[in-house]
Amino acid sequence: MKINEKYQGECVDLNHQGVGVVKIEGFPVFVENMLVGETAQIKIQKVEKSYAYGVVTKFLQLSENRVAPICPTYSECGGCNLMHLDYPKQLDFKVKMAYETFKRIGHLSDVKINRIIGMEEPYYYRNKVQIPFGVENEEIICGFYKKKSHKIISLNKCFIQPIEATEITKSIRAMAKELGISGYNEKDNKGILRHVLIRKTYDNNYMVVIITNGKNVEQKYELARMIVEKYPFVKSIIQNINKEPFNIILGKKSIILYGKDYLTDVICGLKFNLSYNAFFQTNHIQTEKLYQQVMDYAKIDDKDVVVDAYCGVGTIGIILAKKAYKVYGIEIVEEAVNNAIENAKLNNIKNIDFILGKAEEEIFKLENVNVDVMVMDPPRKGCELSLLNAIKNKKVPRVVYVSCNVATLARDLEVLSSDYNIKDVTLIDMFPHTSEVETVVLLERIIEK
Ligand SMILES: C[S@@+](CC[C@H](N)C(=O)[O-])C[C@H]1O[C@@H](n2cnc3c(N)ncnc32)[C@H](O)[C@@H]1O
Repeated sequence: MKINEKYQGECVDLNHQGVGVVKIEGFPVFVENMLVGETAQIKIQKVEKSYAYGVVTKFLQLSENRVAPICPTYSECGGCNLMHLDYPKQLDFKVKMAYETFKRIGHLSDVKINRIIGMEEPYYYRNKVQIPFGVENEEIICGFYKKKSHKIISLNKCFIQPIEATEITKSIRAMAKELGISGYNEKDNKGILRHVLIRKTYDNNYMVVIITNGKNVEQKYELARMIVEKYPFVKSIIQNINKEPFNIILGKKSIILYGKDYLTDVICGLKFNLSYNAFFQTNHIQTEKLYQQVMDYAKIDDKDVVVDAYCGVGTIGIILAKKAYKVYGIEIVEEAVNNAIENAKLNNIKNIDFILGKAEEEIFKLENVNVDVMVMDPPRKGCELSLLNAIKNKKVPRVVYVSCNVATLARDLEVLSSDYNIKDVTLIDMFPHTSEVETVVLLERIIEK
């Protein structure tokens, strides 16, 4: 097989990123925007040893599961990748993908996925957005990165973030232009405005974080004034300074330009303050369903001692503390721990302690604590082996594992499966129109006979 060669083929599967798989004489070719059962003429773009990449030049047969994407920039934008698949079929795809990943990575062939919880209205769901700014023809621009590139596609509409967030971002671009604030050019690390991060609460209050390449931006207070005048529901504006020539969005220093340095959200009837840089689940409606599932699996009673590892601003731990005897939350980000301590007070929860540090290290400091339920919700890279072994050694009876990455989840479940039965698995569709999915797993310790 060679670059630019043309073939005709049928899509037989989707890979875990939702990319079509076409077999040409048994050789797999990954073709974006193809669905199972579709046939097309394809052109080869890149050839590796055991697979190739191709593009559709002409569709010959379309799937009945194909829908016209609601977003006009869908084919270019790197944000969503499943919008051409009917929403109920997106959910089916995620279940199949999870099964395959449990089998392929975790060697877990008898795991049973109970259900996937989708959204009734799978649009405008993100409560946090991060939009890059740049320069084009010497003008400041903002938008989304084109697929697999850092070229910015101008933001016009977005169907997975709140309409207000899109409007605020477009206005900031116009205001910056009026005030003479330049867009950042990552090629030479020059220019001022790098990103705008926007957070929204359930009751439509907003926080805007303006990430700048350097601290001295003399127009910044005027920019903040203009934003609040136009959008009075913006309750907090922060300047974050990032001078590093890397892709990391946030720098370490920040200055409050307007309002408080946190927003208050309500989840499952409890209040949570969150700083601009603390982790918070990005889909409010689905987060409540996720936390409800965690509660159902954890089955806490008033004698239970619980550890909420990777606790963020304390959400899961505080919800569980309402029923438990005692909860310990462990979190690596200092601001998140500070938020968590305030959040416990805000909700009048007294039976929870928060520990600043790495879950895989702090768990050993709880050696004298008999843990009844361990809840863990690690970042994409999953848990360290030392934490998984500590859970086994402590003989924790029940574990609830929340994961945003099925691959690392499968790897970690394989480690735990020597001592634990996987009792139940629920998928939550936190990120409609993308191939990502949130998973909650209930594990129960195998009792020695
Ligand atoms: C997926 S978030 C979960 C947060 C929280 N459970 C929630 O639902 O909002 C993962 C959290 O783990 C934290 N974290 C990352 N590595 C960690 C580690 N080694 N030990 C403890 N916390 C860690 C991150 O800062 C983040 O707050």
